Amino acid sequence: MALNNMEALKSEGMSRVAVDYVEGILQPKPTCDTWDQIQSFQARPDDLLISSYPKAGTTWIQEIVDLIQNGGDVKQSQRAPTHERFPFIEWTIPSRGLSGLKQANAMTSPRMLKTHLPFHLLPPSFLEKNCKMIYVARNPKDSMVSYYHFHRMNRNLPAPGSWEEYFESFQAGKVCWGSWYDHVKGWWQAKDQHRILYLFYEDMKENPKHEIQKLAEFIGKSLDDKLLDIILYHTSFSIMKQNPMANYTSVANEHMNQSISPFIRKGVIGDWKNYFTVAQNERFDDDYRKNMADTTLTLHFRFS
Ligand code: A3P
Repeated sequence: MALNNMEALKSEGMSRVAVDYVEGILQPKPTCDTWDQIQSFQARPDDLLISSYPKAGTTWIQEIVDLIQNGGDVKQSQRAPTHERFPFIEWTIPSRGLSGLKQANAMTSPRMLKTHLPFHLLPPSFLEKNCKMIYVARNPKDSMVSYYHFHRMNRNLPAPGSWEEYFESFQAGKVCWGSWYDHVKGWWQAKDQHRILYLFYEDMKENPKHEIQKLAEFIGKSLDDKLLDIILYHTSFSIMKQNPMANYTSVANEHMNQSISPFIRKGVIGDWKNYFTVAQNERFDDDYRKNMADTTLTLHFRFS
């Protein structure tokens, strides 16, 4: 409710972006306004696209992928902040002169790109060019909590309202990039027909070395133990939290206010237990069962 109420688009002292619907999903208005350009974006065959529903650990995967591509050269990975190394194709902030499309178009190949678009709304050229795509999913309860805090600190998203209001908006899919259920299921369904590596945040937490190897194999690089350990170390939570090229502190406070909530926040499984009431949890589990009844994906999510 709060997300659609333009009067409510101020919180924590920050003015907020307007939002609208495009193809049935809520998006920041500047994304809606450039939708045709986004759809006609020209992918190149050697593009590597990282995709996720927001707050699934995208930045973590991006850092790993960049280090794999650079052969573990940390200095090289610190050449620019994440959002410059990986243009976020549908993201545009006209007041900052920022356009993911422009950045991507100006980039030399091979490019690494980022999107949060549901699979069915991807620019068609990614499929026409048979690009490799990496998708990361995270359990919905922790995704919701992480997204709530991200809304609080990021004025380029609508204000979340109270936790109770945000819970309702998320469950109804009335948040930017739409329904978590549709997103993870859409990419899951697509993964067998396209070059998609589908990863889980929880697996990354449990056995990061194994998942980093999987990423390297998918990208077509081999990692020896030494290189694997370097990548593991530099993409650990505590190191990324301090890395100004990975923690979004390069973005001005007026856009992302990290004193409200840091971008690299807790990085744990199960933080939802600190937020969900017993009643919310029961309702959530009920909705989850209904929404996931038609997919084998259910098996992969652990909530604690
Ligand atoms: P929390 O808010 O739960 O801490 P995204 O990059 O998709 O926006 O996801 C952000 C989430 O990934 C945040 O979750 C952030 O803390 C977590 N994250 C980022 N880097 C991480 C890392 N190296 N290890 C574990 N979690 C990480």
